[in-house]
Amino acid sequence: MRSNLIFFKESLINFYNTGAIWPTSKLAAKELSKPLIDSKKPISVLEVGAGTGSVTKELIKYLKPEDKITVCEMNPKFMNITKNDILENPEFKDKIPNISFFEGPIENYKAKKKYDFICCALPFVNFTPEKVTEIFNYFVENTNEDGVMTYYKYIGVSNVARPFMGKKYHNRQLLLKEIFNNFLEKRLIRTKRIYFNLPPVRVHTLRLNSEA
Ligand SMILES: C[S@@+](CC[C@H](N)C(=O)[O-])C[C@H]1O[C@@H](n2cnc3c(N)ncnc32)[C@H](O)[C@@H]1O
Repeated sequence: MRSNLIFFKESLINFYNTGAIWPTSKLAAKELSKPLIDSKKPISVLEVGAGTGSVTKELIKYLKPEDKITVCEMNPKFMNITKNDILENPEFKDKIPNISFFEGPIENYKAKKKYDFICCALPFVNFTPEKVTEIFNYFVENTNEDGVMTYYKYIGVSNVARPFMGKKYHNRQLLLKEIFNNFLEKRLIRTKRIYFNLPPVRVHTLRLNSEA
């Protein structure tokens, strides 16, 4: 609970990067972890935007002995909470050698190898179109041919925010929508709505390499 309150406080201080008021629910975290849960072969996972670790803990729960995970988070306060929670949890003791951490923006992370699965919780709707494009390209370049990604989008939030925002915000949202639609067009595998989350989300699963 304490980490949830820290998350809430941080969202008030830095909404641009945090992009949420409350950590992801267990149900949504499980859907975000599905490619790892379903994988029949060893898999390398990159989690981007770990926050206080609500999805991280779910991912680690399903990590099999041959799987590996890199946890990326740019907010040092969040990273501290996530790291401590994981390293001090006796349930995760055997999995520690398979976990690595990167503190900083994902754009600065020089991956040593390509990943099979990217689990992403970045607040894309707050970012500029240039930054979203840069991050999407990063994901495509840093995943294997059959690499997949999951991420979520809040249901209805932009409709609620729209009347209170100016023309500049509205134009940016239109541009972002176009970028998302182009990116998803050939890549989307499935979408699942999860209502038990604050606010409810659509979890998208996509194949990153559209030629695969
Ligand atoms: C919506 S929160 C999600 C937190 C957590 N995964 C959850 O689902 O509860 C987004 C997180 O992404 C982090 N973040 C934002 N931009 C980032 C970037 N460029 N690279 C890495 N992390 C970033 C924020 O600090 C924040 O913790």
